[in-house]
Amino acid sequence: MSFLAETRRRRTFAIISHPDAGKTTLTEKLLLFSGAIQIAGSVKARKASRHATSDWMEIEKQRGISVASSVMQMVYREHVINLLDTPGHKDFSEDTYRVLTAVDSALMVIDAANGVEAQTRRLIEVCRQRDTPIITFVNKMDREVREPLDILDEVERELGMPCVPMTWPVGQGKSFRGIMNLRTQAMTVFESGSERLPHDFETIPLSERDTLVKRFGADFEHAMESMELATGASPTWDREAFLAGKQTPVFFGSGVNNFGVMEVLDALVDLAPSPQSRTSTTLVNRQPVVKEIQPEDKDFAGVVFKVQANMDANHRDRIAFVRMASGKYTPGMKLKVQRTAKELRPTSVVTFMSQRREAVEEAYAGDIVGFTTHGGVQLGDTITDGANLQFTGLPFFAPELFMTVILKNPLRTKQLQQGLAQLGEEGAIQVFRPEVGGPMLLGAVGQLQFEVVQHRLKAEYDADVRLEGCQYTGARWITADTPAELREFVHAYPVRMAKDAADTLAFLCTSPYDVRLAQERFPKIHFHPLREHA
Ligand code: G4P
Repeated sequence: MSFLAETRRRRTFAIISHPDAGKTTLTEKLLLFSGAIQIAGSVKARKASRHATSDWMEIEKQRGISVASSVMQMVYREHVINLLDTPGHKDFSEDTYRVLTAVDSALMVIDAANGVEAQTRRLIEVCRQRDTPIITFVNKMDREVREPLDILDEVERELGMPCVPMTWPVGQGKSFRGIMNLRTQAMTVFESGSERLPHDFETIPLSERDTLVKRFGADFEHAMESMELATGASPTWDREAFLAGKQTPVFFGSGVNNFGVMEVLDALVDLAPSPQSRTSTTLVNRQPVVKEIQPEDKDFAGVVFKVQANMDANHRDRIAFVRMASGKYTPGMKLKVQRTAKELRPTSVVTFMSQRREAVEEAYAGDIVGFTTHGGVQLGDTITDGANLQFTGLPFFAPELFMTVILKNPLRTKQLQQGLAQLGEEGAIQVFRPEVGGPMLLGAVGQLQFEVVQHRLKAEYDADVRLEGCQYTGARWITADTPAELREFVHAYPVRMAKDAADTLAFLCTSPYDVRLAQERFPKIHFHPLREHA
């Protein structure tokens, strides 16, 4: 297959939902129907067995949340589909944000009884900012749920974009009869159970209206009416508008019953975009210049959007997850980390098949490649086979929660420093070193991040720490137009200055007024609520 065809046949998407809407179930069914796994239950089983792989994962087990996000690849209808899972818990929203920078589209799963829930709302905001195309799946139609028109209305309001129904449910709950596929103009008849494959479901053309009315009676008539209302009120399907994040195709079904899932899988192939261009900067005469990297560019370029420590605490290696933006990866290729200009020397390079990690034979734009290293790679790093560029858009948010780290056994200082440096590079937490000395500060967006870090410091670095509250409630990264201005500012607030893991200067604040006051006093200083990898 040609290089161009290889990139064009890729689809890289994230699956997003509020916890319990059915994300894991749907993921599993997508893998099942693409042939990537043989038996239903294995993703769930893996979700469970993962808990046993390391101690700190106990936290995940206790709270029934998914701390780490994962990557799965499948092949369906000659297309290579990369599915990226996102952590559902709000305390890990930073991780989710980063995953969303690595995809070209998103699949949003909604519980038909609950509609758009809090966590989904936050994820939608992120997608909207980036104009990520969204496919919507309304799940659990086999339950007593809300009227489809009502759900559609809510999705439209929350997304701020029109819905275009692709399938439409007939009945719901105990009287769920099936879905009408508006593209093929046929009804697929619902049967419960999880052993059925998609082609096992009976289909009846909508043109056989008498048969359908006879068999499904008022449920069918009612569905026809509401479907006509819905389609009458929605715009016609416009793929360009969808790709621009201006309309969302909507599917209905029941993941647990394998029902309505195939339609989603087909949509990923037929509607979702192939790898899109990505923005980077490159230095021309020492000045950064914006450069769009196209998936069909021949040179290898990718960005680290996630770093994960080895689950085995005895091995200090970590996997850097790289989203390829262009080129072709082949084993043995020489790659460079742009930040350090050092060669990347991985101990292994893997792709993430549905159930296992496999050595990569080749990979293209859109693919996620995992490089196992002993360090030297951090979140946001750009990896290329030579070109000097840096991808933009992977942000760090100013933390809103802070704790000081007190080491219980002072002899473990080295281990603590190593641990914090590595956890900081992974993006598990943000670490700030106050300029005047004293204990290190941990900054987080969600409370649970502290617990994970405390647990991991002990389990992986044998550094037993106590976390204590402190007066800080925010931070702003600081820049100035001239070094003299910056010096003057630092001089005025010596105890408020700290450096983060990337050695970027930050101003610590105890209330939102702090920033305002400091800004009034020093109008030429820039205060940044987020830092992009520089
Ligand atoms: P999540 O990853 O979004 O958190 O959701 P997950 O797939 O784990 O599903 C949450 C619960 O909803 C599970 O029930 C699952 O079986 C159920 N579920 C998923 N899809 C459907 C559906 O289409 N219809 C119905 N009725 N239920 C659905 P559980 O009791 O928490 O777990 P389990 O014991 O069934 O595995």
